Amino acid sequence: MYSEKVMDHFNNPRNVGEIENPSGVGTVGNAKCGDIMRMYFDIDDQGVIRDVKFKTFGCGAAVATSSMATELVKGKTVKEALEVTNKAVMEALDGLPPVKVHCSLLAEEAIHAALWDYAQKNHIVIEGLKEPVNDIAEKSEDEEY
Ligand code: FES
Repeated sequence: MYSEKVMDHFNNPRNVGEIENPSGVGTVGNAKCGDIMRMYFDIDDQGVIRDVKFKTFGCGAAVATSSMATELVKGKTVKEALEVTNKAVMEALDGLPPVKVHCSLLAEEAIHAALWDYAQKNHIVIEGLKEPVNDIAEKSEDEEY
């Protein structure tokens, strides 16, 4: 049911932990399953994401998607990180079962929430970034991915 990559990131998640005094931190949750994801970014003066850590209190797919998401955004600019969508995360993991697609959305939301926090703290506007919806339960109901 799960790809080898999903199992690998679930069993050996990358970048687990916290960053002290992060440039941005975002926490998102899905009200339906109750899973919560928190992402910490360390962003330098050039807007490059130097370090990423995450903590996920949730299902295996949520752990795997957040692990992969941190790998994908590390070393990228803030703008490039916005291109790390849930689809990109799923592709990098060789897919997810349909019932687990919302877990990858949580990862995308966590990235956005951390970037939003960074933007707020620095009084900047990141083009294309919308204020994150912390509870994505409604979104997953009627949108197609
Ligand atoms: Fe909800 Fe995976 S079951 S995040």
